Amino acid sequence: MQFFIDTAEVEDIKELNDLGMADGVTTNPSLILKSGRDILEVTKEICGIVDGPVSAEVVALDADEMLKEGRKLAKIADNIAVKVPLTWAGLKTCKALSADGIMVNVTLCFSANQALLAAKAGATFISPFIGRLDDINIDGMDLIADIRTIYDNYGFETRILAASIRSVNHMTQAALIGADVATAPPAVIKKMADHVLTDKGLEGFMKDWAKTGQKIL
Ligand code: E4P
Repeated sequence: MQFFIDTAEVEDIKELNDLGMADGVTTNPSLILKSGRDILEVTKEICGIVDGPVSAEVVALDADEMLKEGRKLAKIADNIAVKVPLTWAGLKTCKALSADGIMVNVTLCFSANQALLAAKAGATFISPFIGRLDDINIDGMDLIADIRTIYDNYGFETRILAASIRSVNHMTQAALIGADVATAPPAVIKKMADHVLTDKGLEGFMKDWAKTGQKIL
C-alpha cells in the first residue's frame, strides 16, 4: 500500500519523504487554510519535494469553471493530480481532464455507486472518506471493501485512495482490505511506529545496559 501525506505542511512532507514514507501528497482547501500559504506557491513547492502525485483541489462548483481551474492547477507540475468533488460537474471535469492525460483524484466519495461512476469517468484515484463515515456511525472500512470488490470484478484501473484516515487502526484495516493508497496526516503515520511493548522492552534493556557500565561509543 502506498502512503500519501495528507497535509500542506512542507516541513512534515520533507521529513517523511526523506524516510521514503511519502509516495505522494494530498491537500484540500481546509489544509491550505491551515498552512496559511498561497495554494499555487505551496503546491509548487510540494511538487518539487515528492516525486509522486500531489493532489490539488478545485473550488469551482460548475463544470466549466472547474475545468479551467483544473487545467491551471495541472500546469503547476507534471506530478499534479487534480482533485474534483464527486458531483455530476466533478465527473464531467474528471472525464475531460483524464482525456487530456491529467491525473484526477475524485474526492468526497461516500458510496460504492459514487466510486463506480468515478471509475467510469476515468478517475486516476477515488477517495472514499473513512473517518467522516465513522463519524456518522457507518463503518467506513465496509465502503473500502465494497469498492475493492467492484473494481476487481470489472478490472477498473482507478486506484482506491483511502482518505479521512484518523487512526493507526484505519491504516492496518485499509492495508488488509487492499486499498491501493492510504492518505493520512503525518501524526498518524508517525504513530504507526509506537507500541507499548517496544517502550517497555527498551526501558528494560536500558536499565540492564546501565548496570554493565559499558559504552559503545
Ligand atoms: C484527503 O484527500 C482528504 O481531503 C482528507 O483525508 C480529509 O480528511 P478529514 O475528513 O480528516 O478532513
